[in-house]
Amino acid sequence: MISLLCLVVFCLSLASNAHAAGTHQIFTRPGENVTLPCRLKLDPTFTFGMASSRIKWSKLNGADEIDVLVSMGFHKVVYSDFQGRAHLVEADDNDASLLLTNIQLDDFGIYKCDIINGMDDNICEVEIRMQGVVFPYSPPLGRYNLNFHDAEAACLEQDTTVASFEQLYQAWKGGLDWCNAGWLSDGTVQYPITRPREQCGGSRTDAGLRTYGRQNKLSRFDVFCFTSGFSGHVFFVEGKLTFDEATEACQIAGAMIAKVSHVFAAWKLDGYDRCDAGWLADGSVRYPISRPRMKCSPAESAVRFVGFPDKNLQLYGTYCYQAQQ
Ligand SMILES: *[C@@H]1O[C@H](CO)[C@@H](O)[C@H](O)[C@H]1NC(C)=O
Repeated sequence: MISLLCLVVFCLSLASNAHAAGTHQIFTRPGENVTLPCRLKLDPTFTFGMASSRIKWSKLNGADEIDVLVSMGFHKVVYSDFQGRAHLVEADDNDASLLLTNIQLDDFGIYKCDIINGMDDNICEVEIRMQGVVFPYSPPLGRYNLNFHDAEAACLEQDTTVASFEQLYQAWKGGLDWCNAGWLSDGTVQYPITRPREQCGGSRTDAGLRTYGRQNKLSRFDVFCFTSGFSGHVFFVEGKLTFDEATEACQIAGAMIAKVSHVFAAWKLDGYDRCDAGWLADGSVRYPISRPRMKCSPAESAVRFVGFPDKNLQLYGTYCYQAQQ
């Protein structure tokens, strides 16, 4: 009986990305395997362990809970969508972690682990979040030049999709601040503000997503594109090159000139940092800074935009993208 008083379930809080207090967050993408950590912390002098516990994993869906897996001793049940994909890790007697394989789009969200051992009922929460990057895009013509159809084409050209509201919202929670309104996949036009200021919809309104609501699809705005990442890698070639020379330099290196999406993904997902302005495939010149410092985007981590300069200017190096072989 005394052992029950010693029971504490705790969630490992290893994630450097954890924002919400108490909820462990895991960033992944479709097709990957993830382990949702949950442990029964037990006084080592008692050996009740998992054998005497009932473990229930469920997924929160609004106010509802969807059953994922229930385990009572040797008896285990895995529910519908998770059959063949959900397993208890059971690395030791106190391990209630859940291995979820081949992550599907519907799997993203908050999971609850409920361990019932005698009188005690202990809960921990783990959130599976989409790893990826949302970036604003406007074409060489300048800002507010894309109708909805153009916006879809612009993201496709970047090997990406138009971001959903949820993706933009998560990007905003991750610090994205952008003062130009862009299309989202649901046909609304919005922009994310983390630092309210006068020239971006007012300084007295709260931080958040500012929305223009659903717009006529022929209206012109920028767009927010989303990519869950690329398997290849980005590198820089130094030089004072024209745009054509830049394209060729990447080809000589066995790669291609990088797209805007490649540089954003490398910056956001791999911490790529390079304080050199370089050509990109759309004719823009940018550089990725993940460690802000004097002369290199001192105020914030960002992919800095230099502009769409004259393609014959011999001023810049180039960013190249090497697809995985
Ligand atoms: C996920 O786990 C399964 C089963 O263990 C394995 O076959 C598969 O290769 C893993 N997938 C990834 C992306 O690691």
